Amino acid sequence: MSFAWTVLVVVFLLPGAYCFSRDEFPSHFVFGASTSAYQVEGAADKDGRKPSIWDTFSHAGNGNMYQGNGDIASDQYHKYKEDVQLMANMGLDAYRFSISWSRLIPDGKGPVNPKGLQYYNNVINELISHGIQPHVTLHHWDLPQTLEDEYGGWVNRSIVKDFTAYVDVCFKEFGDRVKYWTTVNEGNVYAMFGYDIGILPPQRCSPSFIANCSKGNSSTEPYLAAHHMLLAHASAARLYRTKYKSMQHGFIGFNILAFGYVPITNTSGDIIAAQRARDFMMGWFLNPLTFGDYPDIMKRNVGSRLPSFTKKESNLVKGSIDFLGINFYYSFYVKNKPDKQHIEDRDYRADMEVETIDLIPNDTSIYEVPITTWILQDVLDSVKNDYGDFPIYIHENGQKTFSNSSLDDWSRVKYLHEYIGSMANALRSGSNVKGYFVWSLLDSFEILGGYEISYGLYYVDMKDPNLKRQPKLSAEWYANFLKGKPMDPKVMIKIEKNPLLPSHTFFLHNAK
Ligand SMILES: *[C@@H]1O[C@H](CO)[C@@H](O)[C@H](O)[C@H]1NC(C)=O
Ligand SMILES: *[C@@H]1O[C@H](CO)[C@@H](O)[C@H](O)[C@H]1NC(C)=O
Ligand SMILES: *[C@@H]1O[C@H](CO)[C@@H](O)[C@H](O)[C@H]1NC(C)=O
Ligand SMILES: *[C@@H]1O[C@H](CO)[C@@H](O)[C@H](O)[C@H]1NC(C)=O
Ligand SMILES: *[C@@H]1O[C@H](CO)[C@@H](O)[C@H](O)[C@H]1NC(C)=O
Ligand SMILES: *[C@@H]1O[C@H](CO)[C@@H](O)[C@H](O)[C@H]1NC(C)=O
Repeated sequence: MSFAWTVLVVVFLLPGAYCFSRDEFPSHFVFGASTSAYQVEGAADKDGRKPSIWDTFSHAGNGNMYQGNGDIASDQYHKYKEDVQLMANMGLDAYRFSISWSRLIPDGKGPVNPKGLQYYNNVINELISHGIQPHVTLHHWDLPQTLEDEYGGWVNRSIVKDFTAYVDVCFKEFGDRVKYWTTVNEGNVYAMFGYDIGILPPQRCSPSFIANCSKGNSSTEPYLAAHHMLLAHASAARLYRTKYKSMQHGFIGFNILAFGYVPITNTSGDIIAAQRARDFMMGWFLNPLTFGDYPDIMKRNVGSRLPSFTKKESNLVKGSIDFLGINFYYSFYVKNKPDKQHIEDRDYRADMEVETIDLIPNDTSIYEVPITTWILQDVLDSVKNDYGDFPIYIHENGQKTFSNSSLDDWSRVKYLHEYIGSMANALRSGSNVKGYFVWSLLDSFEILGGYEISYGLYYVDMKDPNLKRQPKLSAEWYANFLKGKPMDPKVMIKIEKNPLLPSHTFFLHNAK
């Protein structure tokens, strides 16, 4: 940091505000941006791609939640060169994207689609030639519809074999250039939204539950789907380690969404309830991945509906991640809520025995995601304490706005400023965090809002036939940060003080 800049910081910044620069991060710490295949690629029925469960869901009306589909999306399929150029201009170290299984292997198993193979080779080569590391997710919501139709997708153990064959193709074809593989994105949310609540694909849940599911069982299937995700992940990791790692030297991870859970009072009931919520949301996957079995509280509360691992499976799952991917957006207050139903009739959320209360100020005009950096720090600390010190990538973190809002996205600038600053603090306090990815590179088809909401650093005008990309202020802010340019103190002051800037940072009564 230059002397002049130091003086400016001292003179201008508010007490309590902090300044950080790229220099404070180790050189191997990666900064990137994220997307997923169905949300950005488009070309949904082009060049041999077949539908995934997301094509089916969006064409059937997105469960009446919003309109639109990923047929064209941001058209990254045709615009990947332009998009890689945007990443290079911003100075990204890495791009996290996903492979569409049904583009590569249209029926989920069987022949590889040469045009799908070519597309991902092109994207990866384009990234590498611009010095950008590809971080690849193998399953990001979009299971091939054929496998869902044939045997129920993740609820059937056949998925383990088919997933392993799919990732074998990916490792073999792309592993010379791709070093970071995430098997499953947000396994916990996929299981909860797809099989318990049933509002997202594959929309399975018990009859007359929240959504109108035509099939499913919310008491059993979330656990079954999660179990098979763990076995599929472990099988993929074993394949990579035995067949590819010695040549390719890459890493295998799993991704979960971490909600922050804050006990609503200091009573032991609520404190234990918050821990129980963490065990159900994160321990569900992290306990098996670390210790080879589900958390004790899940065994007690779920009983015989919780699948069990054989000794051999347990050994396979245990230690099968080289890194953990965490997506972090929302936090909740947690209140203890004992459930009196007969244990056999409960669903996943009843098993958790908590009530979650939105940690959003009592103001319906507030739309953006509240900034709760200290809760992310708590998540990092509790993962380390409870499961171990494995490397962590923040795979997703970002601010939501209406798609039609201004390119001067101050609320996103503020959000990124605070979260990236919190990464510097986390490193100082000993967290093993290795990278940070903004969700998302550009406006896309959002899974909880379609085209009405956006998270992009780049605005995409979905009504423009050319789907022109335009940088938002946040893209400029991120580029400046990544290029080590000192942040303009005037901008810093605007971030900290401007009363017009929607500021949703607020403090909990029991915040640290
Ligand atoms: C799983 O799928 C296979 C076909 O791959 C089918 O034979 C089997 O019955 C299914 N198992 C269950 C439990 O549905
Ligand atoms: C779900 O499965 C459990 C265990 O097999 C069974 O007791 C229950 O009746 C099923 N529920 C529904 C709604 O089918
Ligand atoms: C479920 O179906 C009923 C009757 O068709 C309808 O009134 C209701 O809005 C549907 N609920 C959802 C969440 O789609
Ligand atoms: C909880 O305890 C902390 C520290 O003991 C205290 O600062 C805080 O005010 C308490 N919160 C509530 C809601 O009682
Ligand atoms: C939140 O809003 C509701 C409805 O306007 C009001 O009744 C309640 O008192 C408010 N709560 C707080 C904590 O301000
Ligand atoms: C922006 O979009 C939101 C939600 O789609 C809508 O409520 C609002 O009226 C729109 N604003 C403008 C200026 O078009």
